[in-house]
Amino acid sequence: MIQKTQSFTHVIPVLHTLYSVVIKHYEEHHNGNYHTRFLISKDSHCRAELEEGASRLAGKVLLGPDDAVLSDELNHASIIDGIRLCRAKRLRYKHMDLRDLETKLKEAQSSRLRLVVTDGVFSMDGDVAPLSGICDLADQYGALVFIDECHATGFLGARGRGTDELLGVMDRVHIVNSTLGKALGGAAGGYTVGPKPLIDLLRQRSRPYLFSNSLPPPVVGCALRAVELLLASNEISQSMTAKTMRFRNKMAEAGFTISGLAHPICPVMLGDARLASLMSEDMLKLGIYVIGFSFPVVPKGKARIRVQISAAHTDQDIDQCVDAFIQTGRKHGVVS
Ligand SMILES: Cc1ncc(COP(=O)(O)O)c(C=O)c1O
Repeated sequence: MIQKTQSFTHVIPVLHTLYSVVIKHYEEHHNGNYHTRFLISKDSHCRAELEEGASRLAGKVLLGPDDAVLSDELNHASIIDGIRLCRAKRLRYKHMDLRDLETKLKEAQSSRLRLVVTDGVFSMDGDVAPLSGICDLADQYGALVFIDECHATGFLGARGRGTDELLGVMDRVHIVNSTLGKALGGAAGGYTVGPKPLIDLLRQRSRPYLFSNSLPPPVVGCALRAVELLLASNEISQSMTAKTMRFRNKMAEAGFTISGLAHPICPVMLGDARLASLMSEDMLKLGIYVIGFSFPVVPKGKARIRVQISAAHTDQDIDQCVDAFIQTGRKHGVVS
C-alpha cells in the first residue's frame, strides 16, 4: 500500500503527485507489497470542499442512498458497478451533454452529496469529456467531480498528465481514478488520487480495495519504469500525438471514418458487426492485430475496428497498418 502522509499547500499535478509518491516509496521499500489499486492523497483548492463532505460522512462510505451520482450514459462498466455497490441514486445524463447534466443536477439538489462521474476519454469512441463545462456546472450546483483516466494517463495533455491537463482543469477535479495497466504498461493495478480525508475514508471502507490481492513487485517495477520515462521528458507523449495524427490523417485520406479527435484510440467505423469481424480477420492475415467490436460492447449498427496507436510503433508500422486497411477495405467495399 502506498501512502502519502505529507500535506501539500499548493496545487500539485495529479500525475506528478502519483509519480513522486510512487518513486519515493519504491526507493524506500523496494520489495514491498502493493495493493491492486492504491490510494494517493493530493491537495488542492477543492480539498476543503471534499474534506467537509468526507468528515460529514465519517464512519460511512463516501456515498450512500442519500447521495446522487450523475453519470455519463457511456461511462465504463466498472463505474456503473461502483455506483451499484455504493447504492447512491444514479442519474444518467446523455453522453457529454452539458444541458442534460444541468437538468439532472437540478433534480439532485435535495441529495446530501452530488458526484459527477465521467470517463476522461471514452474508450469506444476516443472522445474527450467536456471537463471545463462539467466543472463549471459542478461549481454552480455544489457537486464534486470524479474522472476515470484509464484512457488518458501518460499521454494526453502537454506532459501526458491526462484529460484534466489537456483541458486546463487540473485544480478543479476532485477525484482521479486511473490504471497502471494501459499506457503505463504495468499490465495490472491502478490508483485513486484525491484529498487526504477521502483517501483515508476509502482505505477503511472501500470494499474492492480492502478485499483484493496485492500487486506483485515486478508489475509495480514495470509501471514505475514507465512513470520514470514519462517524467524524464515529454518526448513520448509528443511522439504519440504525431503518430496518432499520421494514422488518423492517412486513414481519412483513404476514405475511412475514424471516430473521436486526435486520440490514440482510433475507432475505424464500419457499422456492420459481421463486416467488422471479417475485416479484422483479414487484417490479421496481413500481420496486423486489430479487434472488431460490435453489440453489446458498442451500440447496434455502430460496429468498428478499434485501433490503438502505441509509442512503440514506428512510422513504417503505421503506414503498413494503413496499407492493410486500404487493401481489406477495398476487398469488402468499404473504400474504393
Ligand atoms: C475506462 C476504464 N476504466 C476502468 C478500467 C479498469 O481498469 P483496471 O483493469 O486497471 O481495473 C478500464 C479497463 O479496461 C477502463 O477502460
